[in-house]
Amino acid sequence: MQGVPQPRREEVLNLPRVHISRHPVVAHKMTALRDRRTPPTEFYRLVKEIGALLAYEATAHLSLEPVEVETPLQKTVGQRLAGGIGITPILRAGLGLAEGFREVIPDAQVWHLGLRRDERTLQAQEYYNRLPSTVNLQVCYAVDPMLATGGSAIDAISILKQRHIPRICYVGIIAAPYGLLRLSQVHPDIDIYIAALDESLNDYGFILPGLGDAGDRQFGTF
Ligand code: PRP
Repeated sequence: MQGVPQPRREEVLNLPRVHISRHPVVAHKMTALRDRRTPPTEFYRLVKEIGALLAYEATAHLSLEPVEVETPLQKTVGQRLAGGIGITPILRAGLGLAEGFREVIPDAQVWHLGLRRDERTLQAQEYYNRLPSTVNLQVCYAVDPMLATGGSAIDAISILKQRHIPRICYVGIIAAPYGLLRLSQVHPDIDIYIAALDESLNDYGFILPGLGDAGDRQFGTF
């Protein structure tokens, strides 16, 4: 990222379709997540918990359809989600977030997608793809804790768009202004949910202040 101009945080705070969590419990958990002393087991648990809270926020506008239900006393009309829900964890750091989502929507389909960022070029490379060929979803959530240069998220959304899903959302934990701006410029038709917007990227494409490498910290591969 050396020499690449980056937008300031204030410049991307009010982008359309970008939702930055204001939930105090999310803010509280974020502090423990950032702490360098937080061990992998605790870190993974926090990613899952923040994932569940973000899932609650990101699913607030899902469509419902009426359905008849029989209580122990009488029949009535309830509601159920109209159409399936998909979760695409971007491997591997997205796995903890996806687990958090599944606690909120246990019957969601999970479509694994492996993208690895080349640490020299910062370009994302696809190495695994288990997206089904038939789609019956109302929405698919691409989940990945870190939105740094935005390359991985942009590629993941482009791959999902080839499946003609009616609605696609991106859900992350921490975003850098540079990646957030790029993602919303390349894919202006998706909603983006994040827990925190940080300050910048360093020369190596790491988010500052950030939390380090979310994949390594979840899985203990330092
Ligand atoms: C990290 C992170 C994102 C990506 C973000 O994954 O989890 O997927 O980099 O960077 P970008 O916005 O610049 O593309 P990484 O490639 O390190 O793989 P991992 O999940 O296996 O740790």
